[in-house]
Amino acid sequence: MHIKIDRNSRTPIYIQIRNQIRAMIFDGRLPPGSLLPPERKLAESLGVNRSTVLTAYRELKADGLADPHVGRGTVVLSVMSEVSESHNEFDPPLYSQFFSQISERANDPLLRDLLVMANRADVISFSAGISAFETDPVEALHGIEEEIINQPNHEALKHTPTEGFWSLREAIADLMQKRGISVSPDEILVLSGSQQGIDIAARVFIDPGDVVIVEEPSFFSALQIFSAAGARIIGVPVDDQGMRVDVLEQLLQRYRPKLIYTMPTYQNPSGVSMALERRRRLLELAFRRKVLIMEDDPYSEIRFEGARKPCLKELDPYGYVIYLSTFSKILFPGIRIGWVAAPRLIIHQFAMIKQLQDLHANSISQWIVERFLRSGRYEDHVRRISEEYRVKRDIMLDALLDRPIPGMEWIKPAGGYYLWCKLPEGTPNMSLLVNAAERGVSYVPGTAFYLGGKGGQYMRLNFTYPSREDIPAGIERLKEAITATLEKTPQKYPAEERSIKPIV
Ligand SMILES: Cc1ncc(COP(=O)(O)O)c(C=O)c1O
Repeated sequence: MHIKIDRNSRTPIYIQIRNQIRAMIFDGRLPPGSLLPPERKLAESLGVNRSTVLTAYRELKADGLADPHVGRGTVVLSVMSEVSESHNEFDPPLYSQFFSQISERANDPLLRDLLVMANRADVISFSAGISAFETDPVEALHGIEEEIINQPNHEALKHTPTEGFWSLREAIADLMQKRGISVSPDEILVLSGSQQGIDIAARVFIDPGDVVIVEEPSFFSALQIFSAAGARIIGVPVDDQGMRVDVLEQLLQRYRPKLIYTMPTYQNPSGVSMALERRRRLLELAFRRKVLIMEDDPYSEIRFEGARKPCLKELDPYGYVIYLSTFSKILFPGIRIGWVAAPRLIIHQFAMIKQLQDLHANSISQWIVERFLRSGRYEDHVRRISEEYRVKRDIMLDALLDRPIPGMEWIKPAGGYYLWCKLPEGTPNMSLLVNAAERGVSYVPGTAFYLGGKGGQYMRLNFTYPSREDIPAGIERLKEAITATLEKTPQKYPAEERSIKPIV
């Protein structure tokens, strides 16, 4: 019997148990005559007191749904006729029966769980992909909010057009210019975070059954969004030069995709950047096969070393690239401002969908970002956080190299937010996640970035959010968790035969 307890919920645990068993009885998963698990056993498996389960069973008895028999256990009653009579008109309906296919497909709790983990004081979080709060960035916004609220005409409290407030669109066009991309402000639409841009793209371009090409691994929210839209998702492997464009070429012949979704620079999760020749080849292929490319670029300005690579949009002479970016990684995720840059007709279509979703991005946030961009402090700010994040990346790499775990490999990222690690062969992914959580450290398991259960041998570690002091402590906890997990797992190869190979 699968019962999920939400310890953060305000609903008492015995009611959560009662409600879930009720739902199973009503939808036939627990037919009349079946036995509920013994109280002690269920209590053990859920990690709750026996009295909690006892109370839940008493409630079920009071509802006329189950009958505890001494010696036989608790039996599910034949409910259909009695239930309709005894059904309390104030009982809630079985809401899940009303859910659409799209919402059923969008039921992965990963993102929510990661946000909860990142906020827990006892956990060192390498899981959330968010900016640091302990360094200077908050400073950058000081005074701006007050200035906006005190505007004599309260502009920031009014509606803005769906495409975004014009002065911000101009400021973003200037920023794009610095990234090497020439677009006019009316080719920009301001989003409530760039994730919204992926969702709108799915609604604008994808009908159920259409093929979308993604990198393998790819950003988990994009996978969830395209799956929820009913797309057929085909993965192209990534190596240390980015997407394998040779493999893409074969796939483009076989499938006729509508869209290629790619993160060419400091990819989430692998941290790798696509080589320049591959970028050119990708554009050529998209043009030849008439496939649109969505270039998701949240991280390219967070560069630690190496030359800046041009964005696909900068290199695109054909008009096939839809460019997506965000202020979440440079400023703060809670500001929820991103943007899409594309030809006017596409911007118009995106605006039509966005209008249905939320009318426009939050006006105050748009003003904050506009003021900040126009304050002249942006470049300096990016330089400072990039330096801070480079230091943190190095602290994490040093901690991993200090008494390394045999068989663990990683890619040293030249920018961005993440370290992508390969676990020693045979490490059971799920046990490790539990062991790590018990030791107070979190990461994102590789399976989140693949479809169909692949990626179990990888994990993604974020180095921007935890403090400099917490990083070595968290890596120590992680190593302990890996060692403990491996000790409990029979190994194919002895430890000395597993090599230490940082791919640096
Ligand atoms: C590749 C990529 N795209 C989009 C997003 C979402 O960003 P936003 O906060 O702007 O919705 C993220 C956040 O982690 C990301 O890594």
